[in-house]
Amino acid sequence: MCVPSRGSLETMRTTEKAHECVREIVRPGDHVIDATAGNGHDTLFLARLVGPAGRVTAFDVQEDAISATRAHLLGNGITDDRVVLVHGSHSTLRQHVDCPVSVVMFNLGYLPGSDHGCTTTCGETLIALAEGWEILKESGVLSVVCYRGHPGGMEEAAGVVEFAEGLQDQGASVVISGQEDTEAGPFLVIMRKE
Ligand SMILES: C[S@@+](CC[C@H](N)C(=O)[O-])C[C@H]1O[C@@H](n2cnc3c(N)ncnc32)[C@H](O)[C@@H]1O
Repeated sequence: MCVPSRGSLETMRTTEKAHECVREIVRPGDHVIDATAGNGHDTLFLARLVGPAGRVTAFDVQEDAISATRAHLLGNGITDDRVVLVHGSHSTLRQHVDCPVSVVMFNLGYLPGSDHGCTTTCGETLIALAEGWEILKESGVLSVVCYRGHPGGMEEAAGVVEFAEGLQDQGASVVISGQEDTEAGPFLVIMRKE
């Protein structure tokens, strides 16, 4: 189970911590999900990890995000068909993926440089987390970067923590990193299926 060392907790950005944890889990050829494609940074990261034999299914509700992700992949040499981009909500996850996956990544909130009013929401995020957990392989990981500084962010982050604690009660391994560091800053939730 990924537990970033204390030093790295203090110096690494939350998204980098998420990458560190996910990197440990994903193997070439895996099927994984990026639940919030945004500008495509996480999608590219996952595409490189799974390699040409793998599959990344990436969701975003904004057409601009899908276009930005497509351009980011092409600009970085990912020209094969390992990434499937879904212009739609991650709450429809099971309609698009029904095979076992090793990782589902969420980077919540809004698309930087875009409409800050278009954010992930607690209700849809919880549906997607539950659906992602259903198809997660043994030893697979749900990784969630939570933000609390925008309207609805605090409630959504609390919902994610409650979801994780529920899984922990059922035997899952859960690490919550950075929640206490600031009142409203980002933090990371990692949930691993045992
Ligand atoms: C912080 S950004 C993601 C950053 C991205 N992972 C990256 O590497 O650039 C959050 C994204 O979630 C998207 N989003 C909001 N609601 C969503 C939903 N229900 N399903 C999928 N994506 C959603 C937003 O459009 C936004 O692009």
